[in-house]
Formats: sequence, structure tokens, C-alpha cells
Amino acid sequence: MHERNAAIGARLIILCKFRSKAHDAAMASVPEIHHLRRDYRREPLEESSLNVDPFAQFSAWFDDALAAGILEPNAMTLGTADASGLVSCRTVLLKGIDARGFVFFTNYGSRKARQMASNPNAALLFPWITLERQVEVAGPIEKISEAESLEYFLSRPFGSRIGAWVSEQSSVIPSREVLVSRFEDLKKQFADGHVPKPEGWGGYRLVPRTIEFWQGGADRLHDRFLYTRADAAWQVSRLSP
Ligand SMILES: Cc1cc2nc3c(=O)[nH]c(=O)nc-3n(C[C@H](O)[C@H](O)[C@H](O)COP(=O)(O)O)c2cc1C
Repeated sequence: MHERNAAIGARLIILCKFRSKAHDAAMASVPEIHHLRRDYRREPLEESSLNVDPFAQFSAWFDDALAAGILEPNAMTLGTADASGLVSCRTVLLKGIDARGFVFFTNYGSRKARQMASNPNAALLFPWITLERQVEVAGPIEKISEAESLEYFLSRPFGSRIGAWVSEQSSVIPSREVLVSRFEDLKKQFADGHVPKPEGWGGYRLVPRTIEFWQGGADRLHDRFLYTRADAAWQVSRLSP
């Protein structure tokens, strides 16, 4: 038994050495990250140019992101945390914005959905780095109405509607083939084109309590303006970079 353990030990050591060499080789091919440096030189963000309404300000910056040809300008990082404070984030697409808040769609059984059910506080980040800008929106999350979810679901292409049925988002699956075969079965089942909305799929709205606009500045003297909801109005403060 002792010899067997020794053999296993030796194999583990070899494995560790191998992993360490592979790790070193992989890291050697990574460019020297600490040398990556960019000074931000675009127009500063002046307090005098800010719109008093952060939604109007967001809309103007969103138009700039569209005009700049940013890939998926409506892609945003959604940060959530569970009741114990365990944090996670992922990209989702902004699909609507109005005076109530920012809307995205997802699976109501996913990891993010479980987190938002136990802790409704969340944050969104638009990383418009090409424009040396970011916008962070934070506040509680609420589900949108079934009617609103249905309206958007029916506007999606056939394949995306089927996809919503296929994926039990965030669950462990044995292989990609499982997804493909389910997709093919459902395509036959809904061949007439009428794909109902799955009950467990729909939209959420983040209702902002704060919205922060960040514009990169020279020598790391960035401009940051934080809008905070104060009853019906918004208060604006400049933050230190
Ligand atoms: C560009 C991009 C857009 C995405 N859009 C969405 C989306 O609108 N809704 C969604 O549920 N997942 C979207 N995803 C996938 C999510 O990032 C994530 O993998 C998925 O929602 C599962 O997250 P969860 O396990 O934390 O719930 C997108 C991913 C990328 C990279």
C-alpha cells in the first residue's frame, strides 16, 4: 500500500510539474500586460453640458455609441449578488429604456434570476471604451409585465424563440448534442411558426437609483458625474476619479 501511495505521489508531482511548465509557457506568450497604457484625450465632460435628466443624457451618449460603430452598443454587464453577498456578473442586451428604467430579457430560472429573486439590488455597466466612456446604473430590479415580455418575445426571430425553449439557462448539460437535438425536435413541433412564450422566460427592469457617467481624462483626471434620485428630481455630484 505504501509503495502504491508513493507511486501516486510521484505521478502527482510529475503532473504538477507538467502543469507548471504549461502554465509558464502560456504566460510567456501573454504580452506584458502592465505595459498596456493609454492616455485619454477626448473632450472632457463639462458639468454645464450635462442634461438635468440622466435618461436624456444616457440617450445622447447611446446615440454617440451607435454613431461610433461600437459592436453591440446595447451590451451591458449585469452585476448581481445573492442574499449571502456572493457576487456574479455577465453580459446582457439592453432591449428597452423609458422613464421607468432599463429592460433586458432572460430566463427566469437562470443563476442571475435566482440571485435577483433573493436580492433585488443590481447594477448595469455600459463599457463604451472606444469613446473612453462608461455608464453605471444601479438600483432594484423588478419583473416586467407578462404582456410586455410577450410583445417582445413575439418580435424575436423563429430560431431565437425556439432557443428560449431549448435552454434551461445555467443548468449543467452533458453535451452540445442534447441542445441541438432538442432544437430540432422543437422546430418540428412548432413547424407552423407559432411558438408560444415559455412561462419561465421574460424581462426585468432595473429601476435606477443612481446613474454615473464617466469620461476618461488626460493624466487619469477623469470626469465622473453621479445622478442620484431625490424624489421626483435628480441630484448631480461630481466624483473624484
Ligand atoms: C454579447 C452578449 C449578449 C448577451 N445577451 C444576453 C441576454 O440578453 N440575455 C441573457 O439571458 N443572456 C445573454 N448573454 C449570455 C449571458 O452573458 C450569460 O451567459 C447568461 O445569461 C447566463 O448567465 P447566468 O448563469 O449568470 O444567469 C449574452 C452574452 C453576450 C456575450
